[in-house]
Amino acid sequence: MPDVNVIIDGKSVAVPPGTNIVDAARHADVAIPVFCYHPKMKPVGMCRMCLVEVWTPRIDPATRQVVMGPDGLPQMALMMNKLQAACVTPVSDGMVIKTTTEKVKFAQRGVLEFLLTSHPLDCPVCDKGGECPLQNLTMQWGPEVSRFDYADKVHFEKPVKLSDVIYLDRERCILCSRCVRFQDDIAGDSVLGFDNRGRSWEIISKSEPGFDSKFSGNTTDICPVGALTNADFRFRARVWEVRSTPSVCTHCSVGCNLTIDARQNKLMRIMPRENDTVNEIWLCDKGRMGQRFFESVTRITTPMVRHNGKLVESTWEDALNRIASNMANIVERSGNNAVAGLISDSLPNEDLYAFRKLISDVYGSASIDHRLGLPTDVSIDDAPLQVGVGRDTNLMTIGKGTSVLVIAADPEEEAPVYLLRLRGIQSRGGAVHVVNSFGTKLGKTASSDTRIAQGGESAFALAFLKQVVDAQAATGFERRLRGLEEVRQQLAKHSLDSLLATAGISADQLKKVVDAYMTASNSIIMYGRTALQIGAAVTQNLASAAMITGKCGKANNGLIALTNGANTIGATALGIRPAKGGANANEMWSQAEQGQLRGLFIVGLDPAGKSERAAQALEA
Ligand code: SF4
Ligand code: SF4
Ligand code: FES
Repeated sequence: MPDVNVIIDGKSVAVPPGTNIVDAARHADVAIPVFCYHPKMKPVGMCRMCLVEVWTPRIDPATRQVVMGPDGLPQMALMMNKLQAACVTPVSDGMVIKTTTEKVKFAQRGVLEFLLTSHPLDCPVCDKGGECPLQNLTMQWGPEVSRFDYADKVHFEKPVKLSDVIYLDRERCILCSRCVRFQDDIAGDSVLGFDNRGRSWEIISKSEPGFDSKFSGNTTDICPVGALTNADFRFRARVWEVRSTPSVCTHCSVGCNLTIDARQNKLMRIMPRENDTVNEIWLCDKGRMGQRFFESVTRITTPMVRHNGKLVESTWEDALNRIASNMANIVERSGNNAVAGLISDSLPNEDLYAFRKLISDVYGSASIDHRLGLPTDVSIDDAPLQVGVGRDTNLMTIGKGTSVLVIAADPEEEAPVYLLRLRGIQSRGGAVHVVNSFGTKLGKTASSDTRIAQGGESAFALAFLKQVVDAQAATGFERRLRGLEEVRQQLAKHSLDSLLATAGISADQLKKVVDAYMTASNSIIMYGRTALQIGAAVTQNLASAAMITGKCGKANNGLIALTNGANTIGATALGIRPAKGGANANEMWSQAEQGQLRGLFIVGLDPAGKSERAAQALEA
């Protein structure tokens, strides 16, 4: 559809049809003040801060034609003969919008004066002070004085705890409903609501425990006043005192972009950093409030070397020289594989690359791993390297025509912000099909939620592949893939009925999932911890399905693995895995106990703290 032409404060602008006036004005560099409107949520027109004059060409009711004036131009009429809320009014061709007339200014001053009637004006002790839309809009658009009596303000007990981490100051709340709408429409946890009427109108938590959501911290960002604050930042600093450093969350595989806001090198708060292809403007509460681990008092901040059985402080030079000479001696006396390396798969590629060079090129050791040798370790998964989602994949834009199969995974637990991305895909018309042996929140709102038997994941993956191979053959277009014949031979050994029986599902349930996968223009398979624990029996069969159908190697198609580390795929790609003849983490502990492993580099991991066995092996 062609763009719509409008004039805003004398500036012509063309915008896509359906754009609301607030967004259209931004294109014309005109600021319309808003409180309840937020670009990530549907407009509701609650606060009336965005009132503007909207003039449209007058239409003759008899002929339905535009009435022309004597000057040859269309006669204009004020829409509904009153001011309109710009956030809920879509533009139409020929519209003329005025945002600075006396009528508009009068309305803006009035809205702000009313909003402030019961506002406590405690900016000096409010955490939002300095980045508060209410402060800013009052300064730019508000009245200089209020005609209301200061003593007539409504007072509430302040603050109330909505949860262990979120506080509500009802006196500051302007009842814009952003927090309620975020929880309903974006997080999918409808745990907030309104209660009472009139001046007692207030936000409440409807859940037990209170504000039961993994995304609650986001409401403190989008609240346009200091009504919602989080326990992690309350009263720590004024916002103008902090310095923001861009960073990335390492708590899961989403890799949300964030800033570390610090004052005098001390962490004050974590804030989301906008990146539409990763996390938009959201963080989960773990990412926002679970980053203080690096302030641990037990953290080693200076090199320590062991002297007569005791660790004592040293210099970097001394420590590095000792390490270099000790490791060189070990290799000389006991061989290359007597040295090994363990490094966290949450570290960046540069560190992983340098570490691999050190272990394999400098010491010539094949023993390198990013796991800890715990019973919960998962096998190394190459599937995302082969058929991970293609370049330019953007989960923010896909919707209609997209099908995401979520299998053996709970995104809310394992990679929370992916849950928001999946909900976004659904809200734009895409489908999400969940296949799990356990219930998930995502399953409750998914297009289908197939419950398989405990341990039925491998059988399901095989049955899925079998059906996909048949469905692909039925299209008459077979890809020439290396190993396809072997896959077919393997599949022929299993009857579909027995696979379905093991998976605990019916043929119809499987068909629904396969049809959705085959017919979508964008097909993504997302698998998680349960799939990774089982290993190739699930992941490689899913990868084969993607390869055979060609649903990989292009944008918005392929696999997404919810890995344990923030950069497991980077670690795998950079060779942080045992090479031929080398030991994995588990084998390293055995070798250490037997005296074969003499030197171990450990970076970003705490094996002794996580595993008794590792602690004993390191002691040995
Ligand atoms: S708490 Fe904040 S976001 Fe929620 S309704 Fe009040 S002002 Fe709006
Ligand atoms: S979703 Fe994952 S990466 Fe994003 S903030 Fe939460 S833990 Fe961090
Ligand atoms: S921003 Fe338009 S009514 Fe609130």
